[in-house]
Amino acid sequence: MKAVVTGAAGFIGSHLAESLLSDGTEVLGIDCFTDYYPRAAKEQNLAPLRDHEGFRLVEGRLQELDLGPLFDGADHVYHLAAQAGVRASWGRDFEHYTDHNVLASQRVLEAALAAGAPRVVYASSSSVYGEASDLPLREDGPCRPVSPYGVTKLAAEHLAVLYHRSYGLPTVSLRYFTVFGPRQRPDMAFHRFFKAALDDEPVRVFGDGRQTRDFTFVSDIVAATRAAAVSGRAGSVYNVGGGERVELNHVLRLIEEISERPLHIQREEVQRGDMRDTFADTTAARRDLGFQSRVRLEEGLSREWDWLRRRR
Ligand SMILES: NC(=O)c1ccc[n+]([C@@H]2O[C@H](COP(=O)([O-])OP(=O)(O)OC[C@H]3O[C@@H](n4cnc5c(N)ncnc54)[C@H](O)[C@@H]3O)[C@@H](O)[C@H]2O)c1
Repeated sequence: MKAVVTGAAGFIGSHLAESLLSDGTEVLGIDCFTDYYPRAAKEQNLAPLRDHEGFRLVEGRLQELDLGPLFDGADHVYHLAAQAGVRASWGRDFEHYTDHNVLASQRVLEAALAAGAPRVVYASSSSVYGEASDLPLREDGPCRPVSPYGVTKLAAEHLAVLYHRSYGLPTVSLRYFTVFGPRQRPDMAFHRFFKAALDDEPVRVFGDGRQTRDFTFVSDIVAATRAAAVSGRAGSVYNVGGGERVELNHVLRLIEEISERPLHIQREEVQRGDMRDTFADTTAARRDLGFQSRVRLEEGLSREWDWLRRRR
């Protein structure tokens, strides 16, 4: 088997590539090392992959690379490359979001079509939902993103469905719900909280902490993503969430317990673009992908803490 993983140097892409390689799949990774966070962190993500003989990395932007020869012979294309982050998506930086999330996705879909239509799994996001009137969030419910990032992730999701409907390209989109674990991006909440505990520095928490999230451990995301390539229904969209609705304040207490350090919390205004609550209905993923969330929040947090400390 041969797989292409876009965004292979990133948090989730590097875990996915590692998992595929461990089962004997050849992996071609593509990444352009955007400067959203330091290249050094991405090089650390890649370190276990670089030694693997089944792995090859092509450095470049999906928008400009000649993707045809790269996709040639691939059984599956996992499209994870994106400009992530909700809060930075306002203002002038929006152009990075349309560029990396919409235009690059269209290039991937076109190239997949030309390369004989391998199955494309697209990493979408719970951000497409926006303010929820009903929880849990169902795939057929309304999508009204509250951030420009969410708008671009939804646009690319629509493109994936459209290329299936119009050309028969087998695409599957997965709406990931807040992913955590080792290698988590440095802008994400748990990473910032643990780092603040480690450095004994103040940490900013937006809002009253009573907002809730459905957190998903990265190995569960990887399992769902791989299953989508095999048994996801072409043209479909699936939620992938950890299965618990947890208040942020509860997470802060757990982080203090796990790190055995007090957090110096600075409360700040809710940020524009942040959703109040997320909670996934995973009925469809359980039915079609055999999805089951296996790593509970406490265990996953401990693993992220161990990783962060070891990295130091
Ligand atoms: N982390 C989460 O909680 C979460 C939640 C929902 C959805 N997602 C989605 O999952 C995917 C992976 O997220 P992540 O947290 O691992 O992010 P990440 O930033 O760690 O990884 C993304 C990688 O893609 C690369 N990249 C971006 N644009 C590119 C382009 N045009 N060409 C080539 N490479 C490019 C970046 O350099 C980066 O290494 C993204 O599509 C993101 O929108 C993530």
